[in-house]
Amino acid sequence: MTISNFKHFITLLLLLFFISPTFSQRSFRPKALVLPVTKDSLTTLQYIAQINQRTPLVPLNLIVDLGGQFLWADCENKYTSSTYHPAPCRSAQCSLARANGCGNCFSSPKPGCNNNTCGVTPDNTITHTATSGELAEDVLSIQSTNGFNPGQNVIVSRFLFSCAPTSLLQGLTSGASGMAGLGRTEIALPSQLASAFSFDKKFAFCFSSSNGVIIFGDGPYAFLPNTNTLPNVIYDSKSLTYTPLLINPVSTASAFSQGEPSAEYFIGVKTIKIDEKVVSLNTSLLSIDNNGIGGTKISTVDPYTVLEASIYKAVTEAFVKASIARNITKEDSNPPFEFCYSFDNLPGTPLGASVPTIELVLQNNVIWSMFGANSMVNINDEVLCLGFVNGGENPRTSIVIGGNQLENNLLQFDLAASKLGFSSTLFARQTDCFRFNFTSTA
Ligand SMILES: *[C@@H]1O[C@H](CO)[C@@H](O)[C@H](O)[C@H]1NC(C)=O
Ligand SMILES: *[C@@H]1O[C@H](CO)[C@@H](O)[C@H](O)[C@H]1NC(C)=O
Ligand SMILES: *[C@@H]1O[C@H](CO)[C@@H](O)[C@H](O)[C@H]1NC(C)=O
Ligand SMILES: *[C@@H]1O[C@H](CO)[C@@H](O)[C@H](O)[C@H]1NC(C)=O
Repeated sequence: MTISNFKHFITLLLLLFFISPTFSQRSFRPKALVLPVTKDSLTTLQYIAQINQRTPLVPLNLIVDLGGQFLWADCENKYTSSTYHPAPCRSAQCSLARANGCGNCFSSPKPGCNNNTCGVTPDNTITHTATSGELAEDVLSIQSTNGFNPGQNVIVSRFLFSCAPTSLLQGLTSGASGMAGLGRTEIALPSQLASAFSFDKKFAFCFSSSNGVIIFGDGPYAFLPNTNTLPNVIYDSKSLTYTPLLINPVSTASAFSQGEPSAEYFIGVKTIKIDEKVVSLNTSLLSIDNNGIGGTKISTVDPYTVLEASIYKAVTEAFVKASIARNITKEDSNPPFEFCYSFDNLPGTPLGASVPTIELVLQNNVIWSMFGANSMVNINDEVLCLGFVNGGENPRTSIVIGGNQLENNLLQFDLAASKLGFSSTLFARQTDCFRFNFTSTA
């Protein structure tokens, strides 16, 4: 047996042993996992999750990408790990990632550059730039939770992710080393973590304007009350409102192959009401057509809700009209926002400034209500603006519900049942998304 044949033999043996994509610690099986999130509220408005990866473990800041296909990280800059494994061509890992190609790298071997590996397309969904990247596995460490506190750390010894060049980090918050994709694919965090620990393919997130949490697995999800004489505020399937998650048959990624569905989460907005009046819209824009155009998706990489031009015009006109009916007078605009008001004009309420209520009417007449705290953006101490932006004509997706409109709302994504559960503003129950009790009980 020549050396190279011998190596090949060893590789085969290793392959046989590691055919399962993720090997997890068997001693303790968590029911759910928790990731702390912070928001870069000053510059990028991105949400950043802290995850530990590699051996020895390195804390990574990854931008949370709800519709992202997988975790991708910069492997070019100081990636050292004794547990890095590139995914060999035609392996089970490659098929799980739908990575059919087979590549070589013409430089010295290192993480992100190995021969005979399959590749995927890491996508910076903020700058809409995609490159090719080696599919690989490495150790991932994450805290378990009972829904109330974090518990002991658990390890996924072979967590699949994609390497990316340092240049793909452009546009991300400084200090970020990649993105954490929570999309619908088999290798996005929700599916990989659920199969590593055999819990339900569900996850939830709750972000405030400063920080928040992502919880993988089922609830209950508990938050501390904003007055410490009250009990914990607990959300479970009974306290969430559900609407079906829809599949866009055409990928919305920057680069993709034919026939690939979108990894993003779409919901069915049927109409929009403002102060109970139906806004007249071109309803064909609200459904996803055969080319994957139209519809409504949820995004953590868009800081504000983006509306197709005709929807934007109709919604803002209705909002202005309803504001006039409430005796609220408009002030100068503050780009990108056109419709601004003075705080003097607007009594505050526990749910934010008392502006007209915007209601997204979903399938089966389920209603997602947005009150001042979610519809408005504070510009300074005096002025606040309607936090919706004009997406222009012919965008890919007609309504993109962005970060400002998701904050302090607990959203649960149930992949098996293909439904979204939402709590409505936590302010109504006297808590906030930053009040997860991070005191560890491990
Ligand atoms: C891949 O194989 C080619 C040709 O055999 C070789 O020149 C190259 O150095 C190898 N690259 C790595 C990363 O091993
Ligand atoms: C409604 O939107 C569809 C899809 O963009 C477009 O083809 C149609 O012309 C629009 N109808 C009106 C009345 O604007
Ligand atoms: C708006 O102002 C008018 C005139 O001052 C008043 O009659 C009306 O009741 C006000 N409406 C509301 C909703 O406050
Ligand atoms: C947070 O959790 C710890 C551990 O369970 C508990 O002792 C503490 O009282 C909780 N904090 C608050 C503010 O309730």
